[in-house]
Amino acid sequence: MTELVRQRDQLERIRALWRRAEEPVAFVPTMGNLHAGHYRLVERARALAPRVVVSIFVNPTQFGANEDYLRYPRTLEADLQGLRALEVDLVYAPKVTDLYPLGVDQAVRVEVPGLSEILCGASRPGHFAGVASVVLRLLFAIEPAVAIFGEKDFQQCALIRRLVVDLNLPVALERVPTVRDPDGLALSSRNQYLSVEERIRAPVLYQSLQAVAEALDQGRRDFPVLERKAVMQLEQAGFVPDYVAIRTEETLAEPDGRLGPVRYRILGAARLGATRLIDNIGWPAV
Ligand code: PAF
Repeated sequence: MTELVRQRDQLERIRALWRRAEEPVAFVPTMGNLHAGHYRLVERARALAPRVVVSIFVNPTQFGANEDYLRYPRTLEADLQGLRALEVDLVYAPKVTDLYPLGVDQAVRVEVPGLSEILCGASRPGHFAGVASVVLRLLFAIEPAVAIFGEKDFQQCALIRRLVVDLNLPVALERVPTVRDPDGLALSSRNQYLSVEERIRAPVLYQSLQAVAEALDQGRRDFPVLERKAVMQLEQAGFVPDYVAIRTEETLAEPDGRLGPVRYRILGAARLGATRLIDNIGWPAV
């Protein structure tokens, strides 16, 4: 049975029972409006621990003033149906005041310097401090043995890893590959903002990253040139690109072109109409 819990004290009661029974928890944090990408994370969680908790919380502190916090799709009933089918044990869907009892404006925040300011952080100031802060609150509340994140938000994965390592948090992290539509578009709750015509063009983001990967396959290492070419490909398709960047996978640092077994991540973010899309792929392909 899937239990829907909206308050911290209810959560703590159930958590205490599981702790006594020595049943570890795998945790999937989400903002709801679940799709096949989220369900893949839940399946992974199911394989990792006897108890699975999913949080559904549209976190106000990770949205900028002009972003889509108010119109972000909230579909709790449909989400619950999907999570019941996957036999999730508990869905934690708190009110803002449950997670931020002293209010959002004066809420204590954690910063992850460096990683928060680059790539998506450059155009979304404050976003990653909001993400790190809410994930920390959720980890304290749920006390999972393992937490599962999707690779689609690759920078977020790197940021959470730094948070966990630097604060020595007792949780393992698991990364799950991006789920794509048949034409390559990475699944995202924001895809539904696209018009029919924009949706047809949207896979160009993935294609532009693949083109960079192909050039790396051919031995090219002129990273800035490859990045500029991808940006131009996006512009020609009517996107307004934020960036296309080739980074070392471990640290998201700019690669220095050294030979050796380096894994890269090719990341991109671009606006298509009013919708901001992000995507990334690993190189070499596994
Ligand atoms: O990836 C998301 O959906 C969110 O950033 C997260 C991790 C649930 C924090 O609000």
